[in-house]
Amino acid sequence: MQPISRRSALLLGGLGLAGTAAGAAGLVWTLTSRGAPVTGAELTHPAELRSTGGRLALELEAARGPLHLAGRAATALGYNGASPGPTLRLRGGDVLGIRLTNRLAEPTNLHVHGLHVSPRGNGDNVFVRVDPGGSFDYEYRLPADHPPGVYWYHPHHHGMVAAQVFGGLFGAIVVEDTDPIPVAADRVLVVSDTDLDAAGNVRNVAPAERLAGREGTIVLVNGQSNPVLSAYPGQRERWRMVNACVARYLRLRLDGQGMQLLGMDSGHFQSPAAVDEVLLAPGNRADLLITTAAGQSVLRAAYYDRGSMPGMMGNGSPERGPADQPQGVSLATLQVAGKPAGRPAGLPPRPAPADLRQVSVAAHRQFLLAAGMGQGGMGGGGGTGMASFTINGREFDPGRTDTTVTTGTVEEWTVVNTSPMDHPFHLHVWPMQVISVNGVAPAFPAWQDVVNVPANGQVNVRIAFRDFTGRAAYHCHILDHEDLGMMGAIEVR
Ligand code: C2O
Ligand code: CU
Ligand code: CU
Repeated sequence: MQPISRRSALLLGGLGLAGTAAGAAGLVWTLTSRGAPVTGAELTHPAELRSTGGRLALELEAARGPLHLAGRAATALGYNGASPGPTLRLRGGDVLGIRLTNRLAEPTNLHVHGLHVSPRGNGDNVFVRVDPGGSFDYEYRLPADHPPGVYWYHPHHHGMVAAQVFGGLFGAIVVEDTDPIPVAADRVLVVSDTDLDAAGNVRNVAPAERLAGREGTIVLVNGQSNPVLSAYPGQRERWRMVNACVARYLRLRLDGQGMQLLGMDSGHFQSPAAVDEVLLAPGNRADLLITTAAGQSVLRAAYYDRGSMPGMMGNGSPERGPADQPQGVSLATLQVAGKPAGRPAGLPPRPAPADLRQVSVAAHRQFLLAAGMGQGGMGGGGGTGMASFTINGREFDPGRTDTTVTTGTVEEWTVVNTSPMDHPFHLHVWPMQVISVNGVAPAFPAWQDVVNVPANGQVNVRIAFRDFTGRAAYHCHILDHEDLGMMGAIEVR
């Protein structure tokens, strides 16, 4: 039984039910289970675990069970009984040890998205399978010069990734700066979406939604629905935003307050860029500096058209469509009030990011992302029987290596999207420098581990295959597409 939160008690009071509820915990359970998401609670953060003396060791238990989501009792998936799981705070040079225990009824495993660590053995090896009841000891050794930033962890067992993430399995990882920026608050905001039925269970998803990539109608920040953040005017905060949605793009806006982008994924800019909005494809992170002005602002995800397959309604999710377009989705509300904060201290100098634009390239490769529709019976299609999601014409096969690269070289990859919907392209272990998107070069070196490839568009990236050898993966980070086959295996040797 979940404890009754003060918020629920207040709500019940407001409904004139407090007297009844006080003597009947079962009634409270029923009411909070069936209700709409509870909005407006003060933002909370997942538990934080910090490395000490160069090491962080923890256990993560993946299980289905009662947890608190959107302010109500739900039966969903969590790590150690919560969604998001604990936030892991590390430093370059640390060793991260995780014992993963699988209490689910199906296989799972663990991936540390974006970390530059070895993919071999018990490192960031997505070919590991942990069966129900089993455990696996992962060990990740971060190089001393590991880029600071926000990363995340989630399951990666092929075919089950979308459902397990949609169910609630994910958490954040922060690699701390060596020279931190002075801020009044350093917040990790993990954005996810899901759907709960009347009984509080995560709903099942129809095959057609998997083709588009499932989107939930409940959009959560740290597991809460539209929480409130309070700050003083003139306060500087750091918001590390993670897009943990299976398929939803987040075109983030915070109108009325100052927003600067420090970098995306593991990348950082030399000086922060003032922005009105930031587009986070699934898997992307944004490292933001917020300088509050005054009044109340809604952090929202404005409407973004990521395309759709022919013959498919919108993105296959009920809330998308014209009604969704003007305002988008509210993620959180920032309330700025009180005595103005003192002027924030200056930013410590930031090193220039690496730049591969002038280096010599050992190989050029092309990757064709294709979503084929209406060719019944073609390919595995992950059981959908009507579509195939491929890279270079092939669905993922864990036993096949699609791309072999020589360690220590730099390659240029052209990723071409032949379909009428966007696909966010992700590579494990080695970050990508964006060279161009539809022929347009970014203004300064941009390093990302998820790069959106627009519908019928193309992206060029350069990658330095340094530090590690071994087998890893690249794939579309619309996790349904990954599960349906839009993934390849890479071996660096
Ligand atoms: Cu975030 Cu291969 O995944
Ligand atoms: Cu990843
Ligand atoms: Cu895709």
